[in-house]
Amino acid sequence: MRNPSMLTPIVSIFCLFFLLYQITLVASSTPPRYVPIDDITLDCGSANEYIDLNGRVWTGDFLSKYFPKEELNNLKSNTSKALGIITRAPYSTARISYFQFTYVFPVTVGPKFVRLHFNSAIYPGFEVSKALFTVIAGSFTLLRNFTLVPDYYLPEKTFCKEFCINVGKDKKLNLTFIPFSTTFHAFINGIEIVSMPADLYYKEGIPNLSGNPFYINDDMALEMVYRLNVGGSWISQTDDTGLFREWSTDGNYFKGGSLLPHAPSLKLDYSIIPDFSAPDDVYRSARTMGFNHTENRLSNLTWELLVDVGFYYLVRLHFCEIDSKMTDVGQRRFIIYIDHLLADMDADVLLWTYKIGTPVYKNYVVMIRKKGVEDNSHILSIDLHPRTDTYYENAILNGLEVFKLVNTDGNLAKYGAEIWIDNSPTAMMSKTKKFIAIGIGTGFLVLLFLMGCMVFWKVKKSKRYVSYYPPSRCWCLCWLRLYPYKGKQTGKKTSSLRKELCHHFSLADIKIATNNFHEDLIIGKGGFGNVYKGQIDDEETITVAIKRLNPESQQGAHEFQTEIEMLSQLRYVHLVSLIGYCNEKGEMILVYDYMANGTLREHLYDTNNDTLPWKKRLDICIGAARGLDYLHRGVKHTIIHRDVKTTNILLDDKWVAKVSDFGLSKMDQNNNAVSTMVKGTWGYLDPEYARCQKLSEKSDVYSFGVVLLEVLCARKALNQKLEEEEWNLAHWARKCIERGTINEIIDPYLKGKIAPLCFKVFMQITESCTRDQGIQRPKMGDVVEKLKMALELQENADAEKESINPSGEHIYLDTLSFCIDVTNDGLWATNVHYEHGMTSDSTGIGTGLTCSSFEIDSITSHKAFS
Ligand SMILES: *[C@@H]1O[C@H](CO)[C@@H](O)[C@H](O)[C@H]1NC(C)=O
Ligand SMILES: *[C@@H]1O[C@H](CO)[C@@H](O)[C@H](O)[C@H]1NC(C)=O
Ligand SMILES: *[C@@H]1O[C@H](CO)[C@@H](O)[C@H](O)[C@H]1NC(C)=O
Ligand SMILES: *[C@@H]1O[C@H](CO)[C@@H](O)[C@H](O)[C@H]1NC(C)=O
Ligand SMILES: *[C@@H]1O[C@H](CO)[C@@H](O)[C@H](O)[C@H]1NC(C)=O
Ligand SMILES: *[C@@H]1O[C@H](CO)[C@@H](O)[C@H](O)[C@H]1NC(C)=O
Repeated sequence: MRNPSMLTPIVSIFCLFFLLYQITLVASSTPPRYVPIDDITLDCGSANEYIDLNGRVWTGDFLSKYFPKEELNNLKSNTSKALGIITRAPYSTARISYFQFTYVFPVTVGPKFVRLHFNSAIYPGFEVSKALFTVIAGSFTLLRNFTLVPDYYLPEKTFCKEFCINVGKDKKLNLTFIPFSTTFHAFINGIEIVSMPADLYYKEGIPNLSGNPFYINDDMALEMVYRLNVGGSWISQTDDTGLFREWSTDGNYFKGGSLLPHAPSLKLDYSIIPDFSAPDDVYRSARTMGFNHTENRLSNLTWELLVDVGFYYLVRLHFCEIDSKMTDVGQRRFIIYIDHLLADMDADVLLWTYKIGTPVYKNYVVMIRKKGVEDNSHILSIDLHPRTDTYYENAILNGLEVFKLVNTDGNLAKYGAEIWIDNSPTAMMSKTKKFIAIGIGTGFLVLLFLMGCMVFWKVKKSKRYVSYYPPSRCWCLCWLRLYPYKGKQTGKKTSSLRKELCHHFSLADIKIATNNFHEDLIIGKGGFGNVYKGQIDDEETITVAIKRLNPESQQGAHEFQTEIEMLSQLRYVHLVSLIGYCNEKGEMILVYDYMANGTLREHLYDTNNDTLPWKKRLDICIGAARGLDYLHRGVKHTIIHRDVKTTNILLDDKWVAKVSDFGLSKMDQNNNAVSTMVKGTWGYLDPEYARCQKLSEKSDVYSFGVVLLEVLCARKALNQKLEEEEWNLAHWARKCIERGTINEIIDPYLKGKIAPLCFKVFMQITESCTRDQGIQRPKMGDVVEKLKMALELQENADAEKESINPSGEHIYLDTLSFCIDVTNDGLWATNVHYEHGMTSDSTGIGTGLTCSSFEIDSITSHKAFS
């Protein structure tokens, strides 16, 4: 037994550290630039206080003075608690009503943000087909005939609509929810009301693009439709300037190629616009064009945004010059087109701001007219085109906001039904699912399990979503929130299982799908357990990969649940997506999309598969690099894969590369007592990480460099059957690069097939990725851009050969004799700059005016080519 008197000092020391920790936390967070007078966060349908993922406190509407009066008197609406696995405030409870109800907010005079939060989870009393309603705020119609349709592509079933409404003197802000008829209901999960500076979006005189000059008056309401951090990452509500606006990434709206300069440590000078206009990170990242003037002259920087017709739109473009090369007015001048109309003949950020690091924004208003009866939506295009009479024929954009302006009749809702794209499991509830086994001659087993399945179904029905836990315990999830990823919306019908975020399978389902974990169905074995091929009969039969985690690597069901919740939100075309899971009787099972073409390694060596052509290999590398870049940057906090290798890069039936097994290594680390052990696979392991246990996303970059070498040389990352010097592919390849003999170790099949310029760029990427120190390695995003460049160079060279000799085989003899001189070649000498760029980049110290490392690198590589 421990002596209790010993405990007291231990406890006090602990408390002291805790206090110190708290103090540093307070000291390190800078005060917000704007403190809203009204900051209401109402959790509808709740009688508690909840803290959301951003640390904001939401008050239940039962507790608040905004609780609808008529409700108190005759309690006509239902409150309901979500049974789904998303349980964070304000999305865990809802107010559902077949009758009209009104919230009354006594607020100060001035413009407010009104944010309506919805989550179509499963609530008792909620029916997706019956949610059809209108929302009115004073004289404005915010939503009309608002309804839900299932859709696979939205990663989250939660949704926020943001409006700007000016509240006059002695007025209250009333929000009324009106169901379409008595057979339909309205619902709402959360309401936010936040004051904004009077001149943030209002009182702006704006040049007109479609005839009439425009002025955003106090009597207007606006609906935010897009708010993008161009070229940068997702910015959470709490990382805004105090106004709790969320900034999305622009990747899904940007068309074509661009560079992504960023100046993470640049000190910004808010001498032209107020410092609350947008967060610093918006201005410190941008998109610009590349360095090829010929190409720039032939293209635009283009964003395409889907909008409703019949409204005026306020388009706000945020600019800030962050490139230290741009020293004078007139060097970067461009033309701005909005919806194909000329908006600015001669945009020049330095002319507006005089120096770099000075943010500025420009507003434009454009009318999107309704052209036909059926015409309800329109693609609003924003094009920036460089002027050809300048030295750097280039354009830049840092941020983009688009607002819909209220019509003269007070309406903000679109014509016809307003449809909220939704992927909720609710839509699934009514459909029964049948699971069929594969393999014949197992009829009896199938019957047995079908019966078992029915029993399970019955038993589970009452407690189907047992995973509920209170939102305060969801803190562990804060590090992972997704920005909305909208994939290409093809008309193709996808299986409804795939539309679901993450399906909860019963063990019986899984047993049927895998023929009771039959050995013949094993398609992979790993440290975590076996992977089975299985078939699930949904609307159509879908083939899945079922990963059964080793019961020995047992961990708490709760942690498993938490991980599932995270993984299921990671949806990206270059990541293998999780379809569902099973957590029953101590079994932990994950269900993924099945990848028809297996692993990348199976197509490189020791295989009977056909050899992959070079361009296809490049294409696969680009896809995998994108997947990793998404893990590193696409989510708010970096996810480090920790086990990048050719067996973790999978290929689907269309040869699209998908990174797999992310997150799980981290999951293992969390709950394992020996978590300090270095994890990864020998041959791919970052030497710096192995030495100092210093884990960063650069460790993934190293491993990816090894993957590139494997792809080029078609040999194992570690092969102890070879001479000792050659065991480790990365070490050996670096030696060969130094000796100028790298061309001798490439896959014999590729000899003569790689264009010299492409090879040079590819080797440059590989070399930089496999550097000893993480700080010297590029970021995954840079790797993506350079690989794209390599592919382009190959395509150009092939096209040239094709034009000379359309029928013959294209042989690049010069590849064979090509060699890189590490010390003397201009290409490599420039790496000094590259490292410098990276250094200031990652430490945040630097001169304050560093521009993108990639940018410098590209210029020099272009020079090296010519
Ligand atoms: C609330 O929901 C329950 C369950 O669906 C239903 O039985 C009840 O009638 C509802 N109450 C009101 C007032 O609508
Ligand atoms: C808001 O609602 C309150 C109470 O229902 C009412 O007295 C007031 O007139 C309403 N205000 C507006 C602007 O609609
Ligand atoms: C704005 O509209 C007026 C007519 O309403 C027109 O005379 C003027 O040229 C327009 N301005 C621009 C910049 O298009
Ligand atoms: C620039 O692009 C054009 C057209 O794509 C191409 O012909 C030219 O070689 C490129 N120049 C350089 C320096 O890469
Ligand atoms: C750039 O965009 C404008 C406006 O849409 C269009 O008129 C122009 O043709 C585009 N230029 C190029 C080179 O694509
Ligand atoms: C709302 O939807 C209903 C039924 O779908 C339709 O009859 C009605 O015209 C719609 N109202 C508006 C204003 O679009």
